[in-house]
Amino acid sequence: MVRCRFISSFVLVSLLLLPTLASRSFPTKLDANPSPGYREAPVYRNGDQCQISAPRDSGEMGVCRPFLVHVAMTLDSVYFRGSVAAVNSILRHASCPENIFFHFVADPASSAAGSSPTPDEFATILRSIFPSLAFKVYPFNSSDRVKNLISSSIRQALDNPLNYARSYLAEIIDPCVSRVIYLDSDIIVVDDIQKLWSTALTGSTVIGAPQYCHANFTKYFTNQFWVRPDFSKTFRGKKPCYFNTGVMIMDLDKWRRGDFTGKIEKWMEIQRETRIYELGSLPPFLLVFGGEVHAIDDRWNQHGLGGDNVVNSCRSLHPGPVSLLHWSGKGKPWVRLDERRPCPVDHLWEPHDLYRQRGHNGRRARW
Ligand SMILES: *[C@@H]1O[C@H](CO)[C@@H](O)[C@H](O)[C@H]1NC(C)=O
Ligand SMILES: *[C@@H]1O[C@H](CO)[C@@H](O)[C@H](O)[C@H]1NC(C)=O
Repeated sequence: MVRCRFISSFVLVSLLLLPTLASRSFPTKLDANPSPGYREAPVYRNGDQCQISAPRDSGEMGVCRPFLVHVAMTLDSVYFRGSVAAVNSILRHASCPENIFFHFVADPASSAAGSSPTPDEFATILRSIFPSLAFKVYPFNSSDRVKNLISSSIRQALDNPLNYARSYLAEIIDPCVSRVIYLDSDIIVVDDIQKLWSTALTGSTVIGAPQYCHANFTKYFTNQFWVRPDFSKTFRGKKPCYFNTGVMIMDLDKWRRGDFTGKIEKWMEIQRETRIYELGSLPPFLLVFGGEVHAIDDRWNQHGLGGDNVVNSCRSLHPGPVSLLHWSGKGKPWVRLDERRPCPVDHLWEPHDLYRQRGHNGRRARW
């Protein structure tokens, strides 16, 4: 309590004294300048034990090469600093960083609206930060694909339509890619991603994710959902658990064969007619995959570090080993660091940040 009050009065003072610092919470304009505000990442090289993939230039940066670890993330201007830190953290901890291929999804409609770089501009910026990174930036027009499927009250309450891009990865990403790790942009990985990649999805299992079976699953759906037998029968005979869709291994071949995008869209269409849930992109995943998810060790998604919707609330790490930290929730570490009211866990994010921070001589603002 005392500490909280101290921090808030400190923030107030720093806001008054340093208005320009306080307002610069993330880079909002990333245009022609090659890497505005970002410094180049170190070069990360494969260890001797790594399997050698075919040469890089075998078409499309060699996306179809064997032995690659495929990682998918979205890109937008608000979370870009988080995405860059996430990529940096993955490379830094990987035993074979040159074998990782990144699939980025960006929305050309938001750049047309002037709020974001185009997919090609994102590619140029990324190349200047990570000169040897193997990646592609795919355009995904979320207005075209998702907007009609999102009910309007939810659209204003939440989120970026790009949150729904994860449901379309199987059609966005090259067909030669048969599985992918999807990651949110507000994460860092502090372990070798190869370990996560080697998780087997056996039988008919399409996705793998850490599950949280102690969470009350009932509350993710409305009464209207539970009282309608045609809806609630979805979970009959299953033991569904909550899982966070910010970290998932997806078998894209099984996904394509089973048209899971269509299954997710079907629930979104139902939601437009009958309010069956309150949240945005998560519940359709729970509906389609709940009870049929391969459970990955919890260490791969220490989520909730952003805190809940109470201003200035900090979360601490759950006990036990940690391989991936996830600032889900309202607070983001780069915003809190810039505003000089970081939570203790934000200092674990900070070393991965490549944003060349403020001050004219590269000096980092600190207190
Ligand atoms: C995105 O899709 C919408 C709706 O179909 C269309 O009007 C718009 O021109 C598209 N934008 C881009 C940049 O492709
Ligand atoms: C779970 O949540 C529902 C709806 O909010 C509530 O009615 C039910 O009692 C809760 N169950 C448990 C075990 O807490």
